[in-house]
Formats: sequence, C-alpha cells, structure tokens
Amino acid sequence: MFKSTTLSIPEVGPVPRHIAIIMDGNGRWARNRHLPRVAGHRKGADAVRSTVRGCAERGVEFLTVFAFSSENWRRPAEEVSFLMDLFVTALEQEVAKLHENGIRFRVIGELSRFEPRIQALIREAEALTAANTRLTLTVAANYGGRWDLMQAVERMLATRPELARGFSEHDLGAHLAMNYAPEPDLFIRTGGEQRISNFLLWQLAYTELYFTDTLWPDFDAAALERAIQSYRQRERRFGRTSEQLIDEVAPRLPRLAGKG
Ligand code: IPE
Ligand code: IPE
Ligand code: MG
Repeated sequence: MFKSTTLSIPEVGPVPRHIAIIMDGNGRWARNRHLPRVAGHRKGADAVRSTVRGCAERGVEFLTVFAFSSENWRRPAEEVSFLMDLFVTALEQEVAKLHENGIRFRVIGELSRFEPRIQALIREAEALTAANTRLTLTVAANYGGRWDLMQAVERMLATRPELARGFSEHDLGAHLAMNYAPEPDLFIRTGGEQRISNFLLWQLAYTELYFTDTLWPDFDAAALERAIQSYRQRERRFGRTSEQLIDEVAPRLPRLAGKG
C-alpha cells in the first residue's frame, strides 16, 4: 500500500484520497468562552465525529487525525489525564458506531506509553473493524514524526540487518506506522498556527497544505468543504511543469460535441 510521491506520481482526483488533520485550537475555543480548556477538548470530540461523517460521505478513503503528540505530555497533568479519559470514553462509546458505518479504525503512535487498558481497547477496536473498507480513520496518539522515522529504521534493521549497508525508500516506508495508507493528499491545520508540530514528517513530502484560523471545535461540514474546495484549486505538479500537466490531461478530457 505504501506509495512514495517522490518515486512515482499518484493519480489525482477531485476528492482527496487521504486527509490528515492537526486538530488545534481546543484550548482557545474554551478560553474565548471563559470555560476550562477541557471543555474545548470535549467539544473537539464532536468535531471529529462530524468530520468522519463528512469524509465518509464524500468518498475520502483515509482520514488521519492528530489527537495527542509525543510533546503533549508536557502539558499540565490534569489536562493529560482528561485527554486520556476522553480517549477511553471515545474508544468505549464510538467504536461500535464506526463499525456499523463500515469504518476501519487504526491508531498510530508509541502505544507502550499508554495504560494497558487503553492499549487493550485499541487492539480490540482495530481487530473489530479490520475488514471494513469504507473509510480508514487513523488516530495519531502519542505520535511524533521523528519517533515514526526512528522506529521504522529500527524495525527495518531488526528484520533485515543486511540493509544497514543500504536501503531504499520502499524498504523504510514498509515499516512506517502508516504503511497501509497512501501519503496524504490534503493536510489541514486548524487554530491558525502554520507549523507541522512533528506530525507526519515523511508522508507530507508532497501533500497540499491548508491552514485555517477556524478553531477545531468550530470545524464543521462547511469548513471541511472549504478545505476540499481549496484543494481542488491546487495544481499538483510533483516536480513537473504546468505545460506537462496540460499535455497529459488534455487527451483524457471528453471531446466537446462537434469539435472532435
Ligand atoms: C488541540 O488543541 C488538542 C490537543 C493538542 C490535544 P489545543 O489544546 O492545543 O488548543 P490550543 O492550541 O491551546 O488553543
Ligand atoms: C499539535 O497541537 C498536536 C495535536 C493537535 C494533537 P499542539 O497545540 O500541541 O501544537 P504546538 O505545540 O502548539 O505546535
Ligand atoms: Mg494547540
């Protein structure tokens, strides 16, 4: 499944196959309302639900959301513990619904740092939904792009020590945490910051980037539509020139009546 956009040019359609989102701005959403930060996280969970629905309806195949970064452990202990509880509740209450809707659920990140109970819930959810084909929802939890690259190198060399003398993008890509998905076509970051914050460092090589000031709890169907509309305006050249793209696409366009 792993396909490298630096090695081969992917088919590009009007709907992104894979959307990756940094869901940022929960704390500010709450602060604007004089509420505790955790109220923003709770509301943010609703926005995840509606985004999953929106992506499934549009035929997006992969949705990857950044829920907790390897750096988020630096937050106050109460906030971290609230986020863990929210994750458990979501795993307990949402997975059956995801399954009913044909959604495959995956988690990427360094899971050993989570309580055994959370790890077990994740494994159960992944197993239950493994055969679903409508949309793959990946939650990045205790995820960091650098961690991903390091663990991929480690696992690759553990399985094939001879690769220490040289390896390809393909060899490495096969061990990345999201080796089952194509690279994201569209990256969305809400909350106004314009940075990657150690998300999918390898996979974002040729992804279209979209930043919006909308705070994550306010990210609704209309906001998703705006992001996809912006994606449709992009010319994905993958190193080629505009002229080359036109030459490639023109022969495939339907001929206008009377002009063929
Ligand atoms: C994103 O919202 C959620 C997580 C990182 C878990 P924030 O909590 O970062 O919200 P802001 O950036 O403080 O507004
Ligand atoms: C990035 O958000 C991580 C998640 C959304 C889970 P942060 O709010 O933690 O990012 P920085 O640290 O401000 O860049
Ligand atoms: Mg933030």
